[in-house]
Amino acid sequence: MINLLKELFLILNKKERKSFLIIQLLIVVMALLEMVSIMSIGPFLSLITNKSDGLNNSLIMYFYEITHSESWNDFILKCGLIILSLFFTSMAISIVTTWKMSTFGSKLGANIGTRLYNHYLHSNWNFHLLHSNSYLSKQIATESTRLSHAVIAPILQVNSKLIILLILFLAVFIKNPIGAILFVLVFLSIYFFIFKMSKNILSTNGRRVTTIMEERFKLLNDGFGIIKEIILLGCQSKFIKDFQVNGENLAKAQAENQAISLIPKYIIEFFAYSGIIIYSLYLFNLSSTESGVDLANLIVYIFLGFKALPNIQQLYGNISVVKGNISSFYSISKDLKESQNKMLCDTSQDEKKVTGSFNIICFDSVNYRYPNKDKFAINKLSLRFERNKTYGIVGHSGSGKSTLIDLILGLIIPDDGIITMNNQRHDVKGSHDWMKRIGLVQQDIKLINATLAENIALGHSFDEINMERLNDVIKLSNLNDMIDNHDDGINMIVGERGINLSGGQKQRISIARALYNDPEILVFDEATSALDGLSEKKIMASINKISKSKTIIMVAHRLKTVENCDMIYMLEHGFLVDSGTFKTLQKNNNKFSKMVENS
Ligand SMILES: Nc1ncnc2c1ncn2[C@@H]1O[C@H](COP(=O)(O)OP(=O)(O)OP(=O)(O)O)[C@@H](O)[C@H]1O
Ligand SMILES: [Mg+2]
Repeated sequence: MINLLKELFLILNKKERKSFLIIQLLIVVMALLEMVSIMSIGPFLSLITNKSDGLNNSLIMYFYEITHSESWNDFILKCGLIILSLFFTSMAISIVTTWKMSTFGSKLGANIGTRLYNHYLHSNWNFHLLHSNSYLSKQIATESTRLSHAVIAPILQVNSKLIILLILFLAVFIKNPIGAILFVLVFLSIYFFIFKMSKNILSTNGRRVTTIMEERFKLLNDGFGIIKEIILLGCQSKFIKDFQVNGENLAKAQAENQAISLIPKYIIEFFAYSGIIIYSLYLFNLSSTESGVDLANLIVYIFLGFKALPNIQQLYGNISVVKGNISSFYSISKDLKESQNKMLCDTSQDEKKVTGSFNIICFDSVNYRYPNKDKFAINKLSLRFERNKTYGIVGHSGSGKSTLIDLILGLIIPDDGIITMNNQRHDVKGSHDWMKRIGLVQQDIKLINATLAENIALGHSFDEINMERLNDVIKLSNLNDMIDNHDDGINMIVGERGINLSGGQKQRISIARALYNDPEILVFDEATSALDGLSEKKIMASINKISKSKTIIMVAHRLKTVENCDMIYMLEHGFLVDSGTFKTLQKNNNKFSKMVENS
């Protein structure tokens, strides 16, 4: 538990640690006040029932004097009011503390979610190649909430319960040490017995919940992601069945853990009530044989017992909830630590920017292998892309064209070899500067569920959009007709993943998006494949128009698209097998001329 607390503390930021400590302090005050107010009832009842004892007690007489009481009745009334105000203050502090604890837990959950989101959005492409969207969504949507609500909040409660129980123990210990120790021993052994029996089930179920949650997100993503195919194939039942099995497994794991944390309540309750009765009888016998029943003391013990009982139950419940959900902490702690380290590195190093306007990109013997693959996708690649020239990249499917584009973009880093821009090496720290010089139009366009304008000027809110620039790129990418024919114009909502648009329209938006930031280099990866002949012609005319002031790199299966390129690079199994203009390749390279014939 101590180690866990230390580790948990490490993932909190400065402000969160401060709040954590303040809440702990409030919990101590809350427990102390609760105790003092409860402990004051016994002596108060004694005062009412036993005036002569009170008059003989020097401490009570001292209080009598400092309260300036005019009579015994006046003193009793004042004592009653003081005790009432103690109860009131205790209630107020308890409310504030509980409020603060809940807010802290919820805020922490939200903060952890934001930190993870920030970390994942700032992670490089390689990270995203290795982690699925379902995994990342699960980390943010469920694990961070589990950590804050089912680990950190119960830990805070555990501490508050421990403090209250410790004070209750001390109060009983002062009056009756043997009884107090017996009480603790009985409860500790029951508690340890139950916890030992159930702790493995709790942890196993906790880990199962983590895995089931990831599977759940995967099923949701898959189901809604390919809904069109599911409707067409009518295979809903397979997905529903998998989801149902997943839900049943989740319910089973959660129910088991919940039952394990609740059922011992009844066992503990039984022992606690029995303990109170036995202890009352013990007091009763003791008092009757010695100096008579001290009714006030007995009431205090029962009071203390009633106070201790729910605290013991909650203490056990909280510990089992923490045990059952601690897997969420282990699941995200690595990512949280990495995000903290990244923040430290980010402030400790300067970004190495590429200087000067774009002149040339050079590849020198570059090798690249995907993290989960044995074979290299790019092999000993040496080539160059010069300012204001147009390049074509051709090759069969799987020859490494898109991988080469990702290397140019700086999305992935070569395993060997060097890539430079303006003779300056690509530096991960300066990636942003490198990337913003390049605009990408992809085969597979990703659109957000927002207006057309926001999709083109991606990353800018509507008010920040440069309307002049927006209109220019709309014209260049041939989007005017679509916008003119729509009532909402540039405010039209494209729908989730561009569901309200045709394939060609989506591709034109992608082109407009790449042009909006006015990059020095434009990369088209199968960008015109979804366009009809006329639209492609119009777009190619636009590309040719801008090609005089930009470097263009085009990947195309339809070889006509790269006909006018200054240089064409031909790839095979990740190797550069030939290069030259369209005409020279067509003349000298059999494979190329066959590709031209078949395209
Ligand atoms: N994310 C990935 N993880 C692992 N391997 C990958 C990944 N993306 C591509 N590959 C592999 O790398 C090789 C090159 O793929 P790439 O996508 O670059 O081909 P391509 O020439 O663009 O093909 P296409 O014309 O079909 O788009 C292929 O063998 C492919 O299986
Ligand atoms: Mg490709």
